[in-house]
Formats: sequence, structure tokens, C-alpha cells
Amino acid sequence: METDVLTDLNCKSDRSKRLAMRRSMTPTLRAEHARYGQEYFDGPTGYGGYYYDGRHESTVRQMIERYELTPESNVLEVGCAKRFMLYEFHRLGIVNVQGCDISEYAVLHGKPEITDRLSVMSADRLDFPDDSFDLVYSIDVLHNLNPDASERAIQEIMRVSRRAAFIQVDSYDTPAEQRNLSDWVVTIKTVRSKDDWRAMFRRLGYSGEYYFKVFTF
Ligand SMILES: C[S@@+](CC[C@H](N)C(=O)[O-])C[C@H]1O[C@@H](n2cnc3c(N)ncnc32)[C@H](O)[C@@H]1O
Repeated sequence: METDVLTDLNCKSDRSKRLAMRRSMTPTLRAEHARYGQEYFDGPTGYGGYYYDGRHESTVRQMIERYELTPESNVLEVGCAKRFMLYEFHRLGIVNVQGCDISEYAVLHGKPEITDRLSVMSADRLDFPDDSFDLVYSIDVLHNLNPDASERAIQEIMRVSRRAAFIQVDSYDTPAEQRNLSDWVVTIKTVRSKDDWRAMFRRLGYSGEYYFKVFTF
């Protein structure tokens, strides 16, 4: 089911300057971003320094309520980056959190309190048994996989979730939004319209919730 009840987490400040910079990025720099290392997270052309600032707290509180999580619940974030959001679940009393990300840099450089809950792992090959988690969520990750792998990742999310799932992906409705998306998300490998994602979710029998982030600027 499509939902817009969860807050869009993206910081919208200074986007036009950053968009111009991304449009002029060299192929070499794009390839560097695709390695999800220091430049992507903390370099001037990426997030520009991605640090914990508590911005996820209200969204996480909404998710705890919406998905009826208790201190005994198990939660997995797929593509958790420096795990600021996952840390918030942990801080708010959901102790059994797990996270995975393809980026070794993110796993090594994020919030240290929950480093032991993390694995370097690709979203399309989750090394967890079936039905392991009460909530599996993935935010702004799956469009960074190629189309086949993004489908496998959705199947993996369904497989390891025993109850709830939430997926947010970057998408578009209009040609202008499509161009913004391709320019802004330099690591994108699957540029799908909202309707195409919806059709894919239906075809795969994905019964969790989802939300599309759109770049209107
Ligand atoms: C835009 S960031 C989003 C990070 C985090 N979910 C958030 O909302 O802040 C995209 C993340 O996807 C991760 N990623 C890219 N490809 C991946 C894959 N195949 N499997 C798991 N994570 C992946 C990147 O390392 C990066 O941390």
C-alpha cells in the first residue's frame, strides 16, 4: 500500500546549487560515488558530511506506533548507511535492531553504539533466515540497484519480514521530475516511474507499504 504518512526525511536546503554541481560531475567522480566510500558520504560532492543530528526521531516515533513495535520487536534496515535512523530505533527502546549496507565505509564510520548490529551485505542477498523481523525497511536504496537486483531485493525484504515492510524509493511522474532524478541521484541504476514501481510491487506480490520520493526542486 502506498503511504505518505511518514515524513520525507530529505534535507531540502541548498538543493539548486548542489544540483548544478551534480550535473557537471565527471564520469570519474560518478564512479567514485558508486563505490559508496568517503566521497559519497563525507566528501564535498556527496552528502557533504553526513553526521548524526537526530533528524529521524519523529519519523521513527511514527514508525514505532504505526507498525506496533515493542521493545521485543526485531527490526532490519536494508541500506542503513551510517545507521542514524536505525540508531534512533535503538535509542527509543527497540533493542533488537540489525542493519546492512553494501558500503564498508558506512559500516565502519557510522554511529558506533550499534556497530555490532551491522553487516556489509547487498540488499538482493540478505543473509537472514525467512521471517526473521517484525519490520524490514529500506529508504532511498533500491533504485541504486540494477532492475533485476532491485526486484530480488524486494523479494528478499518480503522473505525476511514476518509482518511489516516499508520501502521508499526515488521516482518520478513527469519528464521534468525524471530528469531531476537522473541528475540528482548520481548512483541511480533503475530509473522507474511511480506507475512502473507500483506495477512491479503488484507483480511481486509485495504487501508492505511504500512511498516515492520525487525531485521537484
Ligand atoms: C541515499 S543512501 C540512503 C541511506 C539511508 N537509507 C538513509 O536514508 O539515509 C543509499 C544507500 O544505499 C546503499 N546501497 C547501495 N547499493 C546497495 C546494495 N546493493 N545493497 C545494500 N545497500 C546498498 C549505499 O551504500 C547507501 O548507504
